[in-house]
Amino acid sequence: MTASAARSVETASAPAPDGSPLLSVRGLRTTVTTGGETFDVVRDLSLDIYPNEIMCLVGESGCGKSITALSIMRLLPTPPVRVREGEILFKGRDLLRLKNRRMRRLRSDSISMIFQDPLTSLDPVFTVGDVIAEVIRSHRKVKGSEARRMAGEVLTKVGLPDPITRLDSYPHELSGGMRQRVMIAMALVLDPDILIADEPTTALDVTVQAQILDQLINEQRRRNMSMLLITHDLAVVAAVADRVAVMYAGEIVEEAPVDELFENPRHPYTQGLLRALPQVSIKRERLVPIPGLVPPPQLMPPGCRFAPRCSYAVDRCWTEHPELADDPEGRTFRCFNPQPFTA
Ligand SMILES: Nc1ncnc2c1ncn2[C@@H]1O[C@H](COP(=O)(O)OP(=O)(O)O)[C@@H](O)[C@H]1O
Ligand SMILES: [Mg+2]
Repeated sequence: MTASAARSVETASAPAPDGSPLLSVRGLRTTVTTGGETFDVVRDLSLDIYPNEIMCLVGESGCGKSITALSIMRLLPTPPVRVREGEILFKGRDLLRLKNRRMRRLRSDSISMIFQDPLTSLDPVFTVGDVIAEVIRSHRKVKGSEARRMAGEVLTKVGLPDPITRLDSYPHELSGGMRQRVMIAMALVLDPDILIADEPTTALDVTVQAQILDQLINEQRRRNMSMLLITHDLAVVAAVADRVAVMYAGEIVEEAPVDELFENPRHPYTQGLLRALPQVSIKRERLVPIPGLVPPPQLMPPGCRFAPRCSYAVDRCWTEHPELADDPEGRTFRCFNPQPFTA
């Protein structure tokens, strides 16, 4: 990004790394249309991801995390889901304005994505070697033998056992963990600048989750790659994030460097997520779940979207919609009545 382009981009006011962001989402609004009506699933979402950092996007299921990721990648199922407003600036260029062909070229090469479910995203009729070679050869002019060598190399790096033999395996011959390693290999093989990982280990056995996440983070560091890691697991966030954005009902409700978020969460929703975390709740000897559910897009409360589940809601919270704003201490959150955090 040029210096002037960097200056023209309004950066998030939460303390952030120096320099300009690699990816900057500005005012994203994404809608879903059902039964002739259109509802926001993501609203007023801005997010900056800087070189080499891991930004975590957290929130319960249904908050709009995947829709945010798919909006960035331009892989939304349109219709019914569609980006309506905003910019997605990658190195200063708005991805939403690129021709489809340019966007295809950027995917895998500059920005790549790993999905939650490795079973549905691998074509059963191709071998592991075929699918990785296909990613390589659709972007680089290399011979088949060279693509195969690169595929073997990347599979070794992501910790697939017997990587060279596995080049000739079909997806059904692999365990869930192995399939996810193949997906990670596909996402990394072209050395992207940024990786979007949408709940990359959620579908796997607990025992392999930590291993795979560990390997993924190692690769992120080794490659100096940026990462947008989507998860509903705050223990994962505590372990790997540099900065965190908390999402609720289609909006970011708090954003902070990871230490600040865990030491002193400001939004009642963030506080609720933390109280539901075993390590934080240890003193009370029980987990405290957040009562109620994330509202569906059709039933968004008119005021604060979290008000129906919030024990601190005051009159204003039911009628007025809070904006994401900075408090005098420089903390960024969306709340009219913030309270000190008590575990
Ligand atoms: N293809 C779709 N059609 C209709 N609604 C959808 C579609 N995809 C997602 N949604 C809705 O958008 C909201 C956000 O979904 P999603 O981004 O998948 O949440 P998360 O990833 O945080 O669990 C949910 O209410 C979900 O029901
Ligand atoms: Mg999701």
